[in-house]
Amino acid sequence: MLPVQAACALLSLAPLLVLGVPPIGTQPEQVHLSYPGVSGFMIVTWTTFNETESKVEYGILGGRVFDMTAKGYATLFLDSGEEKREMYIHRVTLTGLKPAAAYVYHCGSDEGWSDVFFFIALNDSTSFSPKFALYGDLGNENPQSLARLQKETQLGMYDVVLHIGDFAYDMHEDNARIGDEFMRQIQPIAAYVPYMTCPGNHEAEYNFSNYRNRFSMPGQTESLWYSWNLGSAHIISLSTEVYFYLEFGLKLLFKQYKWLQQDLEEANKPENRAVRPWIITMGHRPMYCSDDDQDDCTKFDSFVRLGRNDTKPPAPGLEDLFYRYGVDLELWAHEHTYERLWPVYGDKVYNGSKEQPYVNPKAPVHIVTGSAGCRERTDRFNPNPKEWSAFRSTDYGYTRMQIVNTTHIYLEQVSDDQYGKVIDSIWVVKEKHGFSAWV
Ligand SMILES: *[C@@H]1O[C@H](CO)[C@@H](O)[C@H](O)[C@H]1NC(C)=O
Ligand SMILES: *[C@@H]1O[C@H](CO)[C@@H](O)[C@H](O)[C@H]1NC(C)=O
Ligand SMILES: *[C@@H]1O[C@H](CO)[C@@H](O)[C@H](O)[C@H]1NC(C)=O
Ligand SMILES: *[C@@H]1O[C@H](CO)[C@@H](O)[C@H](O)[C@H]1NC(C)=O
Ligand SMILES: *[C@@H]1O[C@H](CO)[C@@H](O)[C@H](O)[C@H]1NC(C)=O
Ligand SMILES: *[C@@H]1O[C@H](CO)[C@@H](O)[C@H](O)[C@H]1NC(C)=O
Ligand SMILES: [Fe+2]
Repeated sequence: MLPVQAACALLSLAPLLVLGVPPIGTQPEQVHLSYPGVSGFMIVTWTTFNETESKVEYGILGGRVFDMTAKGYATLFLDSGEEKREMYIHRVTLTGLKPAAAYVYHCGSDEGWSDVFFFIALNDSTSFSPKFALYGDLGNENPQSLARLQKETQLGMYDVVLHIGDFAYDMHEDNARIGDEFMRQIQPIAAYVPYMTCPGNHEAEYNFSNYRNRFSMPGQTESLWYSWNLGSAHIISLSTEVYFYLEFGLKLLFKQYKWLQQDLEEANKPENRAVRPWIITMGHRPMYCSDDDQDDCTKFDSFVRLGRNDTKPPAPGLEDLFYRYGVDLELWAHEHTYERLWPVYGDKVYNGSKEQPYVNPKAPVHIVTGSAGCRERTDRFNPNPKEWSAFRSTDYGYTRMQIVNTTHIYLEQVSDDQYGKVIDSIWVVKEKHGFSAWV
């Protein structure tokens, strides 16, 4: 039993404990990596609540620890919630990294340092066969696949993670504290491999400000759309949200469309497509799905697919654009399910052949993978899918992808409900890429 005095002392502390201690504002947190698309570069991004310097100390794993220092900058992110919380987002670009070498690092300043993390600088060879984990719709609450992804990332199973929109549910909530908490939850993944993103509808609040401020993707679009290369692939990330949140500017939709066209034109130059024949897109809301929730993809005339004619001028959709430029693989999320499609264009199936639909497919291959886990749980399927629907699952889980070489990509679906069991897999094989591969 506690002496009475000690018990009283504890009781008198109780109100303080309830209020909590304010966080140490100079302590780095929410550490995450991204690849700026330049060989030998890596960006480290983190948060502090007080303004501090932005430094990364790093070195080759097994060599002298922290023998190199890189400096960056911090920007003030003023949240638009009631409390107008202030945070500093630090960005430091590491340059001159040796491809495929392992590094240890920590970040912060002399007012506070993060834990020590490690990463492998991406191998910049076009014959590199990178491994990805990819998913959308991972929330702060009920993030069912998170623990498995944390462990598998730390085991070295992935070179890169693609998060295809919808983070935290939602980052702006509780005066952006949900964003902070979510960024802490993904740190065991994102501090070890580049965590590449695109925006989803759950990021829309205050004109996507949490998304634009917290991530550091390539290019000059505040992470909204960009492209980069890895192995034999050119990877394009885009915002499907420009088709839905017109209040933030129809201009953005046209700006992105024009950029996509230019980027695809460049990627299709014979000298570029020869070394990086795979063109892969990732965007949040799919063109096709067979869920029963009345989302855009459940309609024949999906905005993302066909565009909008209720805008002035009418807005072009993405299906024709991607088809014309021979996009090979389109990754989507938003539906809290997994769905694999037979090669599809214009609502019709174009199998390579009946026996081997993904060998020299005659249209792009679509994968919808939005069931990593969030508070909205999983969606339901329509009982009568169209003929393009090849495989469906409502298990929580995520997708693995390996770009093996210029002709082969491997994809598989992991069910977290079934303790990591692989419930679906395909090889996409293409001897020819580009528009001419369709005919
Ligand atoms: C840290 O930030 C808080 C909140 O903005 C402020 O009240 C405090 O004075 C700052 N502390 C230091 C050491 O700058
Ligand atoms: C990068 O990957 C290629 C293809 O697998 C390999 O031949 C090469 O050795 C790797 N580079 C390094 C520096 O390990
Ligand atoms: C929303 O943000 C985008 C990207 O920064 C910007 O171009 C656009 O003008 C903003 N829209 C509004 C209405 O503020
Ligand atoms: C406008 O688009 C809708 C579907 O998005 C379609 O049903 C309608 O026919 C189109 N109207 C015109 C004038 O193109
Ligand atoms: C596409 O291939 C699959 C697998 O062989 C087959 O079940 C399906 O009927 C084919 N679809 C068409 C339209 O040929
Ligand atoms: C690509 O990888 C596949 C699967 O390992 C292999 O069968 C094929 O021969 C390779 N193709 C090339 C062009 O290296
Ligand atoms: Fe969504």
